[in-house]
Amino acid sequence: MALVNEHYLKLKAGYLFPEITRRVQAFTDANPEVEIIRLGIGDVTQSLPPAVIDSLHQAVSEMGKPETFRGYGPEQGYQFLIDLILANDYEARSVRLDSDEVFVSDGSKCDSGNIQEIFAVDNIIAVADPAYPVYVDTNVMAGRTGEADAQGRYHGLYYMPCTEANDFLPELPDRKVDIIYLCFPNNPTGVVANPQVLQAWVDYALENQAIILFDGAYEAYITEEHIPHSIYEIPGAKECAIEFRSFSKTAGFTGTRCAYTVVPKGLVARTASGEPVSINQLWNRRHTTKFNGVSYPVQVAAAAVYSDEGKNQVRELIRYYMENARIIRKTLTSAGFAVYGGVNAPYIWMKTSDGMSSWEFFDQLLAEAHVVGTPGSGFGPSGEGYFRLSAFGNRENTEEAVARIRNKISP
Ligand code: MLT
Repeated sequence: MALVNEHYLKLKAGYLFPEITRRVQAFTDANPEVEIIRLGIGDVTQSLPPAVIDSLHQAVSEMGKPETFRGYGPEQGYQFLIDLILANDYEARSVRLDSDEVFVSDGSKCDSGNIQEIFAVDNIIAVADPAYPVYVDTNVMAGRTGEADAQGRYHGLYYMPCTEANDFLPELPDRKVDIIYLCFPNNPTGVVANPQVLQAWVDYALENQAIILFDGAYEAYITEEHIPHSIYEIPGAKECAIEFRSFSKTAGFTGTRCAYTVVPKGLVARTASGEPVSINQLWNRRHTTKFNGVSYPVQVAAAAVYSDEGKNQVRELIRYYMENARIIRKTLTSAGFAVYGGVNAPYIWMKTSDGMSSWEFFDQLLAEAHVVGTPGSGFGPSGEGYFRLSAFGNRENTEEAVARIRNKISP
């Protein structure tokens, strides 16, 4: 008799975004004439930069000729892409990494979800609350938690509430934890961490032999000079942190799929008997066993992001989305809503109207303003009473959406 992994049965309802899709579908089925504006899931709307498209076409043509055709590539990624990543994303910020510390993949969702596999089930996991749901759900699936309580907090996880009182920044644990998920610029709150904040985390991790899983998928949206783009800009981080980076939000690759994860060779964790084990070697073993590499055309397309033309076009894309963020912030603030984020991140984190739960606000916005956002409680219990709007829409829709909210919804 086949038995299921019963840890899956502890998961709360559906994954957040499919649940939103389900509710929106039910609304549009009942109201087919209504024009909905979607600022919910953080999916890009602008097409791939022309430099990326040109390279993609060329690489696809190469695949059609026997002399340039390629089969399996290196699971860790082609050297041409890794060299560009190292030079542009790290050396340019005075961070030295080796080629075999970079693992190209098809997404940060997969990597940040899969990474927990190489760690023991009895590690104490610390997550910000609210947080990208993948961090919590994958640990639930792996059996690192008990059941969720009425607020949705899983027994066995260490939650770090991020609220107005602490400027939405997770506080250092008051006990020893082993694995810490951090995301800056933050999804969903849009806040960033300055060097002092990150240094405190690195110091905590080194002192407690903990490992930081640092999600930097939104680093390209940092506008303020003093904010680090990589955790490795912080002294000591190469001994305690893994970093996830993505082309999805940077260059419009959400449907094209390319990302990378950095696992420094200085990173070790221990066996139960105290023997040190290289995390880089463990991840390499996992990656090469379960993944066959990102397709050649997609890696060539990602490489084009680092050409002069590509860099200019990507900068333009980011400017476009950040102007949306500015419009959302400004309009909602002047309408009287409490609004956070949106300065170094493509997400705006707002308080719901007086006393409303996140899902009540979701339903009201959908029914009255015909705008879709993401309920804050979907990111964790401390997100209750908040709501996330994405700046990844097109300009016209973004302007229309916030005008509808201002005119139809009171703060
Ligand atoms: C989000 O809306 O939070 C993102 O689209 C999630 C993701 O990148 O998977």
